[in-house]
Parts: sequence; C-alpha cells; structure tokens
Amino acid sequence: MRLGCGSSGGDRDVLHDAFNARQAALRGPRMSTPDSVSAALGSRIAEDIATAGGWIGFEHFMHAALYTPGLGYYARGDLPFGRLPGPGGQGGDFVTAPELSPWFARALAVQVTQGLQAAQADEVFEFGAGSGALAAQLLQAFDALGVPVRRYTIVEVSGGLRARQRERLAAFGERVRWADAMPAPMRGVVLGNEVLDAMPARLLAWDGQSWSERGVALHQGRFAFADRPTDAKPPTPGPFVPGTVTEVQPQAAAFVSSVAAQLERGLALFIDYGFPQDEYYHPQRSAGTLMCHRGHRADGDPLVDVGLKDITVHVDFTAVALAAQEAGLEVAGYTSQGRFLLNCGLADMLADAPLRERADAHRLVAEHEMGELFKVIALTRGLDTELLGFRAGDRTHRL
Ligand SMILES: C[S@@+](CC[C@H](N)C(=O)[O-])C[C@H]1O[C@@H](n2cnc3c(N)ncnc32)[C@H](O)[C@@H]1O
Repeated sequence: MRLGCGSSGGDRDVLHDAFNARQAALRGPRMSTPDSVSAALGSRIAEDIATAGGWIGFEHFMHAALYTPGLGYYARGDLPFGRLPGPGGQGGDFVTAPELSPWFARALAVQVTQGLQAAQADEVFEFGAGSGALAAQLLQAFDALGVPVRRYTIVEVSGGLRARQRERLAAFGERVRWADAMPAPMRGVVLGNEVLDAMPARLLAWDGQSWSERGVALHQGRFAFADRPTDAKPPTPGPFVPGTVTEVQPQAAAFVSSVAAQLERGLALFIDYGFPQDEYYHPQRSAGTLMCHRGHRADGDPLVDVGLKDITVHVDFTAVALAAQEAGLEVAGYTSQGRFLLNCGLADMLADAPLRERADAHRLVAEHEMGELFKVIALTRGLDTELLGFRAGDRTHRL
C-alpha cells in the first residue's frame, strides 16, 4: 500500500494478448497511448513466457511490468508521479511522503546530518529517487541548516525518472550526480524511500501440504496465475492457513547486501511499509501483501493493465536486518515513521507552519495514515552514536 484513496474492488479490464499487440505493431507507428503501451508490454511478456516454456515466475513478471525499458510502469517517461488526486482523475497513482509534504525531508535532514557528522563524511546516496522531490527538499534543508553536503549521488533504474530528476535538480548543479551502478565504496548516508517495496518478489502458495511457486502463464491468450512445485518456502515455519499466498523478496535482500558491502563507513536508512517476519507471515495475513495502485485506487490484480499501474509488496524488515548483519552492518534502529519523524523534531518544526502544511505533515505521522504502517530501519558501519531518530520507541528487538 502506498498512500492512495480507495479500492477499485478488482475491476478486470480486457487483457491485451500477444496477437492483438502484434496486430497493433503491424499497423505501423502510432501515438503511444496507455492502451498501446500496455499491449506492447503484454506482447513482450507473452514472448518471455513462450521462450521460458510456458511459465515465468512472478518475480520475472513483476520486473517486466515495472522496468521494461520504455514500457514498464517505472520506465515510462510519462509516469504521473506523486500528484494528489485531481478533478477528472488527473492525479498520480499514489503519493509518497516527500510528494505529500516537504516536512518529511526537513525532519529526515536532522538524522542525515547526524549520520554525516558521525561518519565524518559529506556525501549522500539516494536509491530510487522518483521525481527527485526528496533530493531537492533535502538539499534545500542542508543549505538552510548550513550542512556541507559536497555530493548527492542518485542511483535510479528508470531512465524516464532519471530524466525527470535531472530537470528538477538542475539548479543544484554538479553537487548532484547519477550513478549507473552501485557506487563503491560509499562513505556517508544512504537513503531509500519506498524503494524496497518496488523490487520484484516471488509469490508462494500453500495448499496445506506443500508450497508452490506462483507464476504467470498464458491461458486463452490472457495472463493467468499458474503454480509450480518449489523447494522455496517462507522464512518462518508458520503455521499457515491452506490457501495462503505470500511473498519472499530475494531481490530486496540482495540489494541490501550489496549496499551493505559497499558502505565503508556511515548510515543507511530505508523507509517503507512493512513488518517484522512474525507479523508478515502471520496466519491472518493469508492473502499476502501484493498490491497494485492506479489513480489513487488499490487493487490486487497485477495481471491486468500491465505497465499502467504500480505493483508492490510490503517489506520484510527482518530479512532486511539479517541481510545487513550478514554483510557486517549493525542494526542501529527500527521504528515507525511517525516515531522517527517526531524523534527528529517534526512537532517543534511545525509550530509556526501554515495550517495546510501542518495538516499534510500530520498525515506523515498519523497512525491511520503513514505513521504506523511505514517503518524506518537504520543500518550502520563504524558509527558509535545513538541515532536521534530512534531515541524513543526503538523496536529493533521486534525484528
Ligand atoms: C515507489 S518509487 C519511490 C520514489 C521516491 N523514493 C519517493 O519516495 O517518492 C520507487 C523508486 O525506486 C526505483 N527503483 C526500484 N528498484 C531500484 C533499484 N534496484 N535501484 C535504484 N532504484 C530503484 C524506481 O524506479 C522508483 O524511482
């Protein structure tokens, strides 16, 4: 779940099959409408399925749906990123914290500053910078606080979003740069807001006897879920209710391991919605956490409107912590976003803010909005400092 406004109740639009997409391509060049994008992407994925012998894992499908160059949801140049719902449905598909309120970055800047000082560093690394909103707001906050940040490096997989970021951040000149691969080594503060949830996940289904891997096949020209036997299983023993479908996120864990391996000295902060494993794999969460977002509405069917909506899973923060620890990092804090921002001084900062800004900022910390479901995890190497953002309400023991 990102911050959206409702649920569509799973309306199933007509799927674009490979045949239709090929016919569309044969008709020659045409305007890139949402339908043609979805058809072209559907055709590509159908080819992947055929090449793989009739079945691909959901991880493969999710990667293709989100990141196929030019066609995937995050790879399209026209992604209506972060706008609130507007008249006639002109808004974006969801809104993230930095898009909702600049006070998110202003409070976060307090923790980043402490991390930089503790690491004796002047460099920030942001993964998955979206529209560039967080980078712009943080750099403004650093300037206002007089914090010398020499370089702000962005690692972004989407070419379309990278172009948007370059435009938005042009005013900051050469302080901002983009890296095509994991910077190495990194010394300073690493940030990732709502990045881990966008990493492709595997789906696992339990029938009461054994686990299957849920993947995608073609059935009568349409995408359909299909299960295959697997040795994979969730990281906790259960119990699981028959019919459970859940997720594991090897790519998110591998990403955290890579970041950890390159973090020479400093602090990594990942902010996202999710839980520790005992909540993630709770018997009552038998439908898992897979969710799609389009036009501020949530639905649970990733197989329709492929490329036109976001696909996301909640983050298993225990797995994040274990991946980091295995790579030699210390888990220095884990708490809710609300707690974290208040620990960073958000309430005092807002004292003189206009009412409208205070109302938006309240959504960052309110328990029924982003304050409780979203968590912040702090991973450190070589720092001997109690982190401000976790001084009250640290839940590291719950991981
Ligand atoms: C949900 S958006 C969040 C954007 C932004 N951080 C925000 O909060 O508004 C996810 C972002 O992560 C990027 N992304 C996904 N996987 C990534 C990876 N492995 N490395 C870098 N960026 C990635 C996507 O392209 C997108 O910019």
